[in-house]
Amino acid sequence: MECLELMKNFYYVGVIDHALKVFDVAVRTDRGTSYNSYLLKTKEGVVVFDGNKEVFGDEYIQHLKSVAPLDSIKYLVVTHTEPDHSGAIEKLLTLNPSITIIASAGALMNLDRILRRPFSRIQMNPAAPLTIGEYTFQFVSGLMLHWPDVMFTYIKELKVLISCDAFGAHFASDAILLSREKDLAGYQKAMVYYFEHIMRPFSSYVKVACGRVNALDLKMICPGHGPVVDVGVKEQVAVYEKLAERYLSINDPEKVTIVYATAYGYTKGMAEYLRDRFLEDHKKVAFFQIDALTYEAEKEEILSSINSSGLVLLGSPTIVGDAICLFYDLLTAIPWTVGQGKKASAFGDYGWSGEAVAHLSERLKQLHFSVLPGFRANFKLDEDAKAGLASYYETLK
Ligand code: FEO
Repeated sequence: MECLELMKNFYYVGVIDHALKVFDVAVRTDRGTSYNSYLLKTKEGVVVFDGNKEVFGDEYIQHLKSVAPLDSIKYLVVTHTEPDHSGAIEKLLTLNPSITIIASAGALMNLDRILRRPFSRIQMNPAAPLTIGEYTFQFVSGLMLHWPDVMFTYIKELKVLISCDAFGAHFASDAILLSREKDLAGYQKAMVYYFEHIMRPFSSYVKVACGRVNALDLKMICPGHGPVVDVGVKEQVAVYEKLAERYLSINDPEKVTIVYATAYGYTKGMAEYLRDRFLEDHKKVAFFQIDALTYEAEKEEILSSINSSGLVLLGSPTIVGDAICLFYDLLTAIPWTVGQGKKASAFGDYGWSGEAVAHLSERLKQLHFSVLPGFRANFKLDEDAKAGLASYYETLK
């Protein structure tokens, strides 16, 4: 693989992995990926951006060496510490222990635990650009894309943004540059898939980051995975911004999402009662009944509705001491970033033991929803239970 000179003195020194089929256990990578690293030659020494995956340590070192002697490397900028980018740092430091690592406070803390060895360090300061040789490095932190330690580096003189995992894709491209990539449709598909599976929970942070990126004078975005964006930079940022807007969580106090399952109609009766009361009170109600046949087709619409609701109600009967399993699938698809700031509650009818409401409430708490007390009833609602359901409704308003 060539270590392409992207601009004068600025090189691509990453590793391209065509063979990868799965990333982070659950993300399919049908087009493989790349672990991107970059190298900048300055008058004050060489600056490398990002390590690599441990398994590619030898290849990474070879790529660095092909562009500059290892002992000329003075700084390593770490954009975040997930081991697909930090795993090979130990090897690099073993070969050149004098390298100073520049990173966020969180990344330096993580590196202490990843490297388990002393190393020279500079904690970046987003308020104070760093000058190395003839280049100015402006760091942007607090991005939460998709780890808390993430930072971007803007190289002012080159108009280049090193963007960590943001604006990336699991897409192994020997072209390296987007301008040279022939399969643009495949790249766009992989980029959207990457967003949906990695960045989506952080859509509000993406929106903020895009605003900051739009304020920069940019020629090139250098992400942690996939092709370097050297054409259509503004358009790529706009695609990201649009995706973030699609998945942005909005806590609309006027909107309620009710998702329920029913075995014999009792929980359905509760759900319909709650729906009708909310409608009488002029709320917008999204109403979903789920079962094993319909759930998969409805799932994305339910998630989208939850995204834009201020209140989420889950109604489940109790079967074998728990809520219906479909609710757990749904609740593992909701990130805490969506739950935050929304109210939620569980309700349901039961025959024997009635654990569903308590179990769903517990899971909703884990997802950072503000959980209101639930309501449950045993078999057919008598007058007391009907009064209890009416009181329950009042607590949800
Ligand atoms: Fe590509 Fe968050 O690691």
